[in-house]
Amino acid sequence: MAVSNSGRYLSTDSKKVDEPFKVEEAETVNVPPPPTEKLLVLGGNGFVGLHICKEALDHGLAVASLSRSGRSSIQDSWASNVSWHQGNLLSPGSWEDALDGVTAVISCVGGFGSNSYMYKINGTANINAIRAASDKGVKRFVYISAADFGLANYLLQGYYEGKKAAEAELLIKFPYGGVILRPGFIYGTRRVGSVKLPLGVIGSPLEMVLQRTRPLNQLPLIGPLFTPPVNVTSVAKVAVRAATDPVFPPGIVDVYGIQRYSQKKY
Ligand SMILES: NC(=O)c1ccc[n+]([C@@H]2O[C@H](COP(=O)([O-])OP(=O)(O)OC[C@H]3O[C@@H](n4cnc5c(N)ncnc54)[C@H](OP(=O)(O)O)[C@@H]3O)[C@@H](O)[C@H]2O)c1
Repeated sequence: MAVSNSGRYLSTDSKKVDEPFKVEEAETVNVPPPPTEKLLVLGGNGFVGLHICKEALDHGLAVASLSRSGRSSIQDSWASNVSWHQGNLLSPGSWEDALDGVTAVISCVGGFGSNSYMYKINGTANINAIRAASDKGVKRFVYISAADFGLANYLLQGYYEGKKAAEAELLIKFPYGGVILRPGFIYGTRRVGSVKLPLGVIGSPLEMVLQRTRPLNQLPLIGPLFTPPVNVTSVAKVAVRAATDPVFPPGIVDVYGIQRYSQKKY
C-alpha cells in the first residue's frame, strides 16, 4: 500500500483510490433488548406475590406466576404482562411445564389452617417446587419463609415445621443459589377482591418503634414477638434482587437483613 501526495491510502492491487468511509446515520429506535432472565413466582397472585411480579417487571424480567387459581383478578395494566399459569404444587406432574426456560424461582406459597394443612402448604408444596426446579436446572431459588415467633411457634406447629422442612431442602438443593427470607409481619396494601386493605396503618408505626428495640429480640421465648414488621415493597425488592443478582450471598436473610438490603441500590 502506498500513500499519495494528498495523504490518501492507495490500494496496490486495484490501483484505485480508497473512498473515504461514508457513515450513514442510523435511525435511533428504542427497542429494549428481549429479557434474558425469566422469573417464575409461585403464588404470584397472592399478597406478597403480586408485589414481587410488579417489582420484577420493573426490572425488565420476563415474569410468570403459578398458583391454584391462576390469573389474578387485579385490573392494573402491568398484570397483563405476567404469564399466569394454573397448577397445584401438591399435584406433581401437573404444573412442571411452567418451569421451562425459567432461570429463577421465588416461592410465596404458604398459608394457615389445620396443622397438617399448614405443613403441606408451607412444607411439602415448596419441597416439591424446590426439587422440580433443581431437576430442571433453575439457577436461583428464593423462598419466603417466616421469622421465628418463639412461643407462638407452638400454636402454629405445622406452619413452622413446614417452613423449616422447606428451608432445609432449599439449602441442600441450592447450596449456591438458594436464599431464604425470614420476615415477621409483612404490611402493605393487601387486595381482597376489589377492596384494598391498607395494612401499613398498623405495620408502618410498629416497624419504626420495634426497629429501636432490637435488644428485646434476644429475650428467650418472648423475644421474637419484638421482631419488627416489614413493608411488602421491601420484601419484594430484596426477593427479586436475591433471585437475579449472581453475587447475592446464598443462605438466610432475617428481617434486619431485609431492611438493610432493601435500602441498597443495584
Ligand atoms: N403476610 C405476612 O405477614 C407474612 C409474614 C411472614 C411470612 N409470610 C410468608 O410469605 C409468603 C406469602 O405470604 P402472603 O401473605 O402473600 O400469602 P397469600 O396471599 O396467602 O399467598 C399465598 C399464595 O400461594 C398460592 N398457593 C397456595 N397453595 C398453593 C399450591 N398448593 N399450589 C400453588 N400455589 C399455591 C396462593 O394462590 P392460590 O390460592 O390461587 O393457589 C397464593 O397466591 C407465605 O409463605 C407466608 O407464609 C407472610
